[in-house]
Amino acid sequence: MLKTRITELFGIKHPVIQGGMQWVGYAELVSAVSNAGALGILTALTQPTPEDLTKEIERTREMTDQPFGVNLTILPTITPPPYEEYAQAIVGAGVKIVETAGRSPAPFMELFKAYDVKVIHKCTSVRHALKAQSVGVSAITIDGFECAGHPGEDDIPSLVLLPQAAEALEIPVAGCGGFSDAKSLVAALALGGEAIVMGTRFMATKEAGIHQNVKDLMMEADERSTNLMFRTMHNTARVFKNSISDQVVEIESTGTAKFEDVKDLVAGQRGRVVFEKGDMEHGIWSAGISVARVKDIPTCDEMVSRLVSDAEDIIDGRLQKVKA
Ligand SMILES: Cc1cc2nc3c(=O)[nH]c(=O)nc-3n(C[C@H](O)[C@H](O)[C@H](O)COP(=O)(O)O)c2cc1C
Repeated sequence: MLKTRITELFGIKHPVIQGGMQWVGYAELVSAVSNAGALGILTALTQPTPEDLTKEIERTREMTDQPFGVNLTILPTITPPPYEEYAQAIVGAGVKIVETAGRSPAPFMELFKAYDVKVIHKCTSVRHALKAQSVGVSAITIDGFECAGHPGEDDIPSLVLLPQAAEALEIPVAGCGGFSDAKSLVAALALGGEAIVMGTRFMATKEAGIHQNVKDLMMEADERSTNLMFRTMHNTARVFKNSISDQVVEIESTGTAKFEDVKDLVAGQRGRVVFEKGDMEHGIWSAGISVARVKDIPTCDEMVSRLVSDAEDIIDGRLQKVKA
């Protein structure tokens, strides 16, 4: 057993969390992760309306009696979704764990506190983590440069960012970005982390409701299989390297590109088609560098059990032998 402040905080068996994933974090995956003793997290905005989120929470409850959470990604957009209504749906459904991301959770803390919700805030810098701690979140996910999605603009990998955050904060910190297996779990614990949060690795599981072509391609990928786009717009996103993300990077390389120039290529609905139809060149989709570490497509239970038992073997075996 690996016991940390995060396993205690969320009442979970293993220090492993599945991060919120747009178009991936549905009830089937989330319940499988939670049934495996890790923490599954639904993605609020994958549901078209707050009412649909309430139904998805109910569907998850039908499949697991273990703790699970909901991710609320609060991005400043031109036409923002009704974040407040999604937050109300979360508390109204009795969910007690929320992963926030994208922006400070401060405007929502009063509501979450009133309903006894524990918030784990995901951010990409120590300064934002300190801010989140000061507004009362229970834990931090610190997202290194390796991660899928938005790594921020500081480009600090987990190897440095995680210990920096763990030393600066009083609340527990989970390492995120680049974690995929027992070796990286042990590394996270050694670096001061009290859990790992994985996105990419959990996509490559039997229960992830995405097309088999996506999973097959992930198994062929290596450490150079991602692209960083939107660098020039200071809104960096790490996505899988395909002809579409190559085009975006190419357009940006002119140095004068505006969002309008790539808007159609990066449309979320095109990325959704990749996941649903398996047309791998249809749009962009998030993937982290850890995609290189995907060698098989296990069930969540197989993956989490293996992760934890191999981590224990490393701690009791190889690390003990290293000690002179
Ligand atoms: C397909 C996909 C979609 C994601 N969507 C979201 C999202 O909507 N909100 C969010 O906070 N993080 C999102 N993430 C990021 C993950 O929660 C997690 O932080 C990240 O995957 C960690 O890095 P890793 O991929 O190296 O494990 C997404 C990741 C992937 C792979």
